[in-house]
Amino acid sequence: MTEQQQAGNNLDPWYHHYSERAAGLRASEVRALFAVASRPEVVSLAGGMPFVSALPQDLVIDAMDRVMVEQGAVALQYGSGQGIPRFREQILEVMALEGISANADDVVVTTGSQHALELVSKLFLDPGDIVIAEGPSYVTAMVIFRSYQADVDHVPMDEHGMIPEALREHIARLRATGRTIKLLYTVPTFQNPAGVTLSWERRLEILEIARENGILVLEDNPYGLLYFDRKAPDAMRSVEEDGVIYLGTFSKTLAPGFRMGWALAPHAIREKLVLANEAAVLSPSSFSQLVISEYLSRADWKAQIDTFRGVYAERKQAMVSALGEYLPQLSWTNPAGGFYVWVTLPEPLDSKAMLPRAVKELVAYTPGTAFYADGNGRQNIRLSFCYPTPEQIRLGIRRLTTVIQGELDLLETFAGTGALDMVQGGAQFTSPPPNVS
Ligand SMILES: Cc1ncc(COP(=O)(O)O)c(C=O)c1O
Repeated sequence: MTEQQQAGNNLDPWYHHYSERAAGLRASEVRALFAVASRPEVVSLAGGMPFVSALPQDLVIDAMDRVMVEQGAVALQYGSGQGIPRFREQILEVMALEGISANADDVVVTTGSQHALELVSKLFLDPGDIVIAEGPSYVTAMVIFRSYQADVDHVPMDEHGMIPEALREHIARLRATGRTIKLLYTVPTFQNPAGVTLSWERRLEILEIARENGILVLEDNPYGLLYFDRKAPDAMRSVEEDGVIYLGTFSKTLAPGFRMGWALAPHAIREKLVLANEAAVLSPSSFSQLVISEYLSRADWKAQIDTFRGVYAERKQAMVSALGEYLPQLSWTNPAGGFYVWVTLPEPLDSKAMLPRAVKELVAYTPGTAFYADGNGRQNIRLSFCYPTPEQIRLGIRRLTTVIQGELDLLETFAGTGALDMVQGGAQFTSPPPNVS
């Protein structure tokens, strides 16, 4: 064994060989708990898994059959690094539902939108750069930004999304301290994790601020078509072509197993994205592209999205009704679409410290600290209503009530004794626990 290898730790002899960038890829402290939480007796309100059982299997099987019979050799072969032209045309039809008009030449097919986040980060982020994001923000995007050694600066939100005035202040403060702001990352519609939607007026204002300050907007929109009662505001990309990279995905409107997403980018950026895509994966899966393309041309995919909407609307209602019934002392967001409710606990409850007790009571959630780069979020939890049935959701919230009530009783008993300090630990987001997306 070499001297350098000997400098490793007990578990990993290569410990000191990793790049600096890899230091950002640490397992979450709550990972072990989530392994327990995936047992069937636990009601998990933690994961963001789409309810794929609402997709009739025969629709997918038919599309797969036809692809293999009619275009098998193409489906099983490498393809173009940008994606199949016809499929990119069809992606334009999907984006048109949110007001976007574009050219298929500016679309790059990626391995889920997660991979598009990775490619954009690779193209734009140097160590020490700043990515402005909502506070809280999507955990696995932040893991990527950090793996490129960029820092996330959180701009606060209210029920109408990111606050433009706060954005202006943050930009001025960051600039005054000599920081380079590379991206403004936003999930404007049915945000993960907060469930809130950026109003139309604010979309325009935030685009204006970004334009004035020469900041590229990265609009990540996996949930926009999953509205409950009323269509969401059009995408930011619908009114701004040059300053926005838009990310879309089939993970929530069809199924994540295909791993199919896309980026729509200004022309010059698109060229670089294709090169980065080729370097990373050679070409996105031909098989997945053709199957989805077949599905989009033959099946009533808009009706299928309506079905998903109905399922999630019912589950969201079950969740907010149960919260209202069992935990009226808490506050929470009431999303108009998507997968998530963001709950604020009463002071001084700590969502991370409380999690082991919740898992013991057979309910799991994601602590708010996972969604902040700066250790905030102790008073918050993210609850997902996408996967469990309405009955399981009610049961989960009842169990959560026992946990929260128990914590409050404990705090009351020990208030003023100093014993409460025990529940305050240190927290920083690392990588998400399994099942959290
Ligand atoms: C905000 C956001 N962006 C991106 C993704 C990644 O989605 P996919 O890679 O499956 O397209 C997710 C998944 O949950 C998400 O919530």
